[in-house]
Amino acid sequence: MSENKSRFNSRFAAIMAMAGSAVGLGNIWLFPYMVGEHGGAAFIIVYIAFCILVSLPIFIAESTAGRVSRKEGYSIMNKVAPVTILASFIILSFYSVVGGWSFDYLIRSFAGGFSGKDIAEAKEVFAGMNGSVVENVSCMLVFLGMTAMIVVAGVDKGIGRFSKISIPVLFIMVVLIAIESLRLPGSGKGIEYLIRPDWSKLDGPAIAAALGQSFFSLSLGVGSIYTYASYMREEDSVLRAGGWTAFFDTAFALLAGLAIMPAVFAAGIEPGAGPSLVFETLPVIFSRMGVVLPVIFFLAILIAALSSSISLLEVVVSWLVHSRGMRRRYAVLLVFFSAAFLGSACAVAPKVFAACDFLSSNVFMMIGALLFALITGWILPREEVMRHVRYRFAYALIRYAAPVMIVAIAVTNLL
Ligand code: PFF
Repeated sequence: MSENKSRFNSRFAAIMAMAGSAVGLGNIWLFPYMVGEHGGAAFIIVYIAFCILVSLPIFIAESTAGRVSRKEGYSIMNKVAPVTILASFIILSFYSVVGGWSFDYLIRSFAGGFSGKDIAEAKEVFAGMNGSVVENVSCMLVFLGMTAMIVVAGVDKGIGRFSKISIPVLFIMVVLIAIESLRLPGSGKGIEYLIRPDWSKLDGPAIAAALGQSFFSLSLGVGSIYTYASYMREEDSVLRAGGWTAFFDTAFALLAGLAIMPAVFAAGIEPGAGPSLVFETLPVIFSRMGVVLPVIFFLAILIAALSSSISLLEVVVSWLVHSRGMRRRYAVLLVFFSAAFLGSACAVAPKVFAACDFLSSNVFMMIGALLFALITGWILPREEVMRHVRYRFAYALIRYAAPVMIVAIAVTNLL
């Protein structure tokens, strides 16, 4: 195992890269809808509590494992590698399909492709794009190619530099959309949908959804956080990185809700989730608000998706480089072609897409998160772990609460 010398050259770069991994499609097309459907503020409170008590400790466990792994003799990645590499590779493949759609829609909105269209017409556009193998696969390849270009440039010069610039810009763009959206007459109903607490909707599935979403949203269990933490400078704290990442991720999810739901309700349309919300409803609504807004919106989605996909590609590349001694350039190429293959299958066969999504979020991510919690909580020497974790209650959360909650949520989701 060659010693890992790649580094982020500043704390800011490391935190922006981690925040970039966390902020992604999950915040935009899943979170706002989930909040509305599962009881508004009631769901938000449970979500934040889970973030702090379960997901943040797992984040700290995973990043501590990453930090410790730099030392000779602690190459934990070899123990968890099969699970995390498979998980990140599979997520990368189907994530790239959606990343490709965002690229496609960015180009379409540049060309004013949605002005004057209604929802029925937008549905046809989406079905047409989705049904065209050539368009679907080539956009996926463009997205994967962009991901590879950032990663091949290196940890600090590629990933760090991209994140330092794009994440602050991404926040500004979402704030701008939220301001426009909140100014629309009738937008208040959207805020009500997001905020009005309805505790009766907070049932078992809602609670399971909150925890599952906070795992996915914080990129836990697939090695992204592990890998980025292994690139942090010695003097930078994983606790602080975890706190900031959780804060940015939640803030961004709430902002995305404020950008999306007020506009949807102002237009008198039922909100949906996933592709129908982002690629059918929103292009139409934002096009009614001017030509620039759809461009900003799809650019924001593209950046959010890219900053997550680079963290997925880097997991596999880092392992090939540091554990298999491969040159970075060749590792990126190898993963690019393999992900292009599985990504093409996801692009043309919705069943493959759904299977990849299900397997990675409900099985591999859970096993990965459990392994990181157990390794940091029970296997690594306590003194070594405490140098990073610092607080005894955080250590206790990693040892006891996290594993129990992961098993509970995995069982609930699979039943
Ligand atoms: N956190 C990303 C999102 O919310 O869209 C998804 C993700 C990225 C999961 C990277 C896992 C990962 F390693």
